[in-house]
Amino acid sequence: MKQLIDKAEVLVEALPYMRRFFEKTVVIKYGGSAMVDESLRESFAVDVVLLKYIGLRPVLVHGGGPQIGRALASLGKESKFIDGLRVTDDATMEVVERVLGGEVNASIVELVERAGGRGLGLTGQHDSMLRVERKRPGGKDLGRVGQVVKVECEAIVQATQQGYIPVVAPIGVDPDGVTHNVNADEAAGALAVALGAEKLMLLTDVEGVLDAKGALMSQLTVAEVAKHIDEGTIRGGMIPKVECCLQALDGKVGRAHVVDGRVLHAVLLEIFTDGGVGTVITH
Ligand SMILES: Nc1ncnc2c1ncn2[C@@H]1O[C@H](COP(=O)(O)OP(=O)(O)OP(=O)(O)O)[C@@H](O)[C@H]1O
Ligand SMILES: [Mg+2]
Repeated sequence: MKQLIDKAEVLVEALPYMRRFFEKTVVIKYGGSAMVDESLRESFAVDVVLLKYIGLRPVLVHGGGPQIGRALASLGKESKFIDGLRVTDDATMEVVERVLGGEVNASIVELVERAGGRGLGLTGQHDSMLRVERKRPGGKDLGRVGQVVKVECEAIVQATQQGYIPVVAPIGVDPDGVTHNVNADEAAGALAVALGAEKLMLLTDVEGVLDAKGALMSQLTVAEVAKHIDEGTIRGGMIPKVECCLQALDGKVGRAHVVDGRVLHAVLLEIFTDGGVGTVITH
């Protein structure tokens, strides 16, 4: 009996969080280890489906760096990054569309379905959801890498209202309809703003944002982010992450976090505990 009552108490403790997030949108960027390790994959999917059934509106945006890298390698093509963004020539874009928009997207939809949810696979091409212009950071040409300039999120809003969990591959289209590779963190941030999300969660394969000594910084302000990028403590793939968190906050998203996706049930812990797992970025 005691065990059963304990179980009930765990549920009751979750009530304030359930109320706070009821019918709220949570955009989750799914990437890193959580996307590779089989038991993490399953616990991630269960978490997301559970959120859906208690009345939240989870929206998934996924990366797929390792999968794209492997597909390119098997074609004898090397992956090249500038400031954490993949240099994308036409041949690379073909692979991105096939792997990211095809295989990876479908496998996540399947994962959601196996966990008892209804997944709906989309790419940013759908209904021109992610409209981009070509990105040229500091004048550098990265090829078909897009910067999101507009989001048409009607399809996602409708899908969530119909009970689906949208699963979005970050592929955008320019005004001529040409597909572009979009960093998944950036796509997630832009969608979070457009959807008026309560929370943006970027799952990754590290504890969170780390300082120069490798220690977790559980909270970071705008000014600290700028300083760490300047000093080179925050680099590579972590740069688009913290930058999109800042943009999300500017765009009125309630909270933005970098979350350790290697922790079992990281998503639930982030929603249902005050501390959370990883780094919260604040103004
Ligand atoms: N200050 C920092 N703290 C933590 N990680 C950092 C920092 N600076 C750079 N990084 C790097 O950023 C990486 C996370 O970004 P990365 O783009 O590699 O993964 P992801 O975005 O989670 O996955 P994907 O790009 O495949 O969707 C970490 O593994 C780490 O190597
Ligand atoms: Mg990345």
